[in-house]
Amino acid sequence: MTNRRDFVKQLVKAGTATLFFPSWPDPGRHLALTPPMGWNSYNCFGGRINEAKIMAMADAMVNSRMKEAGYQYIVMDDGWMTNERDKKGHIVVNTGKFPNGIKVVADYVHSRGLKFGIYASPGRYTCMKLMGSLGHEQLDADDFAKWGVDFLKYDWCRYPDGTIQGALTTPRDSCRAAFELMRHCLDKAGRPIVYSTGDKCSTVAGVHSQKRALPWIKTIANMHRTGRDIRNNWELMLHCLDTTADLWPYAGPGYWNDPDMLEVGNDKHRYRGQPGMDLTEYRTHFSMWCMVAAPLMAGNDLRKMKPEISEILMNKEIIALDQDALGVQGHRITADGGKEVWVKTLSDSRIAVALLNKCKKPVRLKFSWEQIGLSGPRKIRDLWEHKELGIYKGGFKSKEIPAHGVMVLLLRPVENNI
Ligand code: GAL
Repeated sequence: MTNRRDFVKQLVKAGTATLFFPSWPDPGRHLALTPPMGWNSYNCFGGRINEAKIMAMADAMVNSRMKEAGYQYIVMDDGWMTNERDKKGHIVVNTGKFPNGIKVVADYVHSRGLKFGIYASPGRYTCMKLMGSLGHEQLDADDFAKWGVDFLKYDWCRYPDGTIQGALTTPRDSCRAAFELMRHCLDKAGRPIVYSTGDKCSTVAGVHSQKRALPWIKTIANMHRTGRDIRNNWELMLHCLDTTADLWPYAGPGYWNDPDMLEVGNDKHRYRGQPGMDLTEYRTHFSMWCMVAAPLMAGNDLRKMKPEISEILMNKEIIALDQDALGVQGHRITADGGKEVWVKTLSDSRIAVALLNKCKKPVRLKFSWEQIGLSGPRKIRDLWEHKELGIYKGGFKSKEIPAHGVMVLLLRPVENNI
């Protein structure tokens, strides 16, 4: 492979305008049949992104074997643009950060066998007060398609006039219209682009109530944020999980509830000076995102990933729950003082059960076949220990699960060899 600098030079020299973009008959509709997996720049870099970092992250995605584990999208969040448009109305890219424009970055990401994502906002400004798409939706969608964007995070902020307050109080019909408009523009632009949305107009008395955006949002988007921004914090992580829990009937191939990006291994993104999550909590965070069939967008610096973090983010047995072809979001069946049992129905008559210990001390957890609608014996495998536990009939009682820990089990019919 040519090195990164040569590659960029070649692309800049070739120019980008002459490239041919075929049109797809039904763009967007056949995408995200399983929850999208990738990396997003916001949790670890905020707005401090640039060409070199995004390209390095694509390299790291491949070199760290995250790509092999199923991670595909490199998503560049807020911060790539200025707050201006040029004479023809196109967003002016921040050339201090992206001296060669965005297409070069997208092409580089593609050259590593990955897909490229970008961030935009329906309002006048993005959350970082940079240029939003209001009034220029088709032009922006066309530019995204031309650049080779495969994923758009369309984030509700500062709508319509640039203030956060305006965004919170926008009538819900206008909110819906803004998201539908971009859907329409993406379709017209003719490139399959995963459409990832997030709104703040479903906020009631300061609390997100995403049920208000469903079910209409799932008819236009591939994933939708269910709550406030996550941070590297146990309580906030659980809050994001809780905002997603009751929305399980809406998820399925093509549309996923999005509790926000992952914080596994992202030690920088602490909340109010509190300690970040420890390894046990990271494991729980990752397990529960997979149980609720959440998009898996890593938020750590992939260039500096410690082995114990790779082990979590690349636990293929846990990822397989998230990516199961049936596309059923798991749900909580019991919650008893911080001791919770969650169940996810999988393909091939298999079931995943997560025993979640939210308590501050170790506990043992149990469940019965009756509680999860089973009969007959089941083989049980522990997906963190990677170990067969044996054949069980009627019920299961765990060993001690550490404080804030989880045990994730795979139950298969005895005759099932999978
Ligand atoms: C927020 C969004 C974050 C991030 C940020 C960028 O509205 O929830 O995930 O995208 O904007 O400014």
